[in-house]
Amino acid sequence: MAAGKGTRMKSRLPKVLQKLSYQTLVQHVLATAEQLHARSAVVITGHEAAQVESVLSKTSSALPLKFVRQEPQLGTGHAVQQAVPVLADDGVVVVLSGDVPLTQADTLHALIALCAGQHLALLTLNMPDPTGYGRIERNGDSVRAIVEHKDASPAQRALTEIYSGIMAVPARLLKGWLARLDNNNAQGEYYLTDIVKFAVQDGVSVVAHTITDAVQVAGINSPVQLAELERAYQQRQALALMEQGVRLKYPARRDNRGVLECAGDVEIDVNCIFEGHVALGEGVKIGANCVISNCTIAAGAVIHPFTHIDGEKLGVTVGEDARVGPFARLRPGAQLGADVHIGNFVEVKNSTLAQGAKANHLAYLGDATVGERVNYGAGSITANYDGANKHCTVIEADVHIGSNCVLVAPVTIGAGGTVGGGSTITKSTEAGALSVARGKQVSVVNYKRPEKRPQ
Ligand code: UD1
Ligand code: CA
Repeated sequence: MAAGKGTRMKSRLPKVLQKLSYQTLVQHVLATAEQLHARSAVVITGHEAAQVESVLSKTSSALPLKFVRQEPQLGTGHAVQQAVPVLADDGVVVVLSGDVPLTQADTLHALIALCAGQHLALLTLNMPDPTGYGRIERNGDSVRAIVEHKDASPAQRALTEIYSGIMAVPARLLKGWLARLDNNNAQGEYYLTDIVKFAVQDGVSVVAHTITDAVQVAGINSPVQLAELERAYQQRQALALMEQGVRLKYPARRDNRGVLECAGDVEIDVNCIFEGHVALGEGVKIGANCVISNCTIAAGAVIHPFTHIDGEKLGVTVGEDARVGPFARLRPGAQLGADVHIGNFVEVKNSTLAQGAKANHLAYLGDATVGERVNYGAGSITANYDGANKHCTVIEADVHIGSNCVLVAPVTIGAGGTVGGGSTITKSTEAGALSVARGKQVSVVNYKRPEKRPQ
């Protein structure tokens, strides 16, 4: 169900398209559904339907999606009624809400097992404050009814077991019950929860799977709840990393907004953010305050504090035992070999640095191929853009580029060559050559500075 407006979010974006970590709420729900190996998922849209459908159509998933629209929105029962024409009679339907993102597949597997293709199985939870939720009325082990908060008597409101909004039900039975719904209730809505009553009338057993982890059934209605669930999600990620052996200096101060893979003995300091797909090799150390996206970092590499790495589509690779930062910036297509050093205020874009190359201070390398053991001086720049096109710079092995040089691409610096500090190099150089391209120094001996005239 993804038709609701989510008024309390106070956002132009439909509620189910708000993001939790790296994907929208409804994408989290569908990712869980995918793990159930369902035949298909039926997404019921309504408010901003076209926008929701467009986002989901672009999401890659093994789960075939079908969309049905619910306009206007007359309640959860009315929502599920819209799906009836596309549901096969022989299946089990699992009803999920697009705004409840953190249900785990195991929980749903247990619910489906309880349904066993013939019962109505409800996911329930005991809540210290059940205000607003549908209450579970029991008859011993089986469920007699769900009573919505607004329709409940004081005695029913005292019940603390609530319906989570998630159920598993045989499709054939569901269809029959949906046809019998009415809206004679406090909210004038078609309640999906009324099907419990019909199941009891028809002698179908209604069973509850009761969990204790409230996060799994927590829905999001407001920015406060979105932030709370984001923290719950991040805590889950942090625990999973630590269980796997990753050492987090402060688990609560670190965010995963994608898939983070870690080998053994990885250490991560505070305030780091990981986005997209990031893989950290054995013994990698990440300093404080790094933002790292779409990047593979090989064993033994150290990323010093305040480094920003964003591989976007091209990716970034950092070789074994490389040193990056503090305050370094690696952009798409940066490929650092083993033992490469990238220091403070160095930017690398779409460039390959071979083993042992170093650019330690205040430099730019763009569209460059840098050979082994090259030393690239402080303040040096590859001028890769002529205002219209990008050009490449090749710096062969063992070259020493002095400080504050400009290498105007396209240009090649031959192997073992040296470029004097302050040079602007516009022509390729021979291997082994010293190249200097700057104004000659003039020194006037015993120079006298002008003196101030008497007033
Ligand atoms: C529902 C349950 C309640 C349960 C609670 C758990 C009903 C009648 N009540 O209550 O027993 O305790 O969830 O959170 O089912 N939606 C539509 N179309 C509609 C109405 C809702 O798509 O016409 C969607 C919403 O966008 C949301 C979900 O269904 O994703 C649940 O709707 P919501 O209004 O939050 O349900 P409640 O009334 O809180
Ligand atoms: Ca409602």
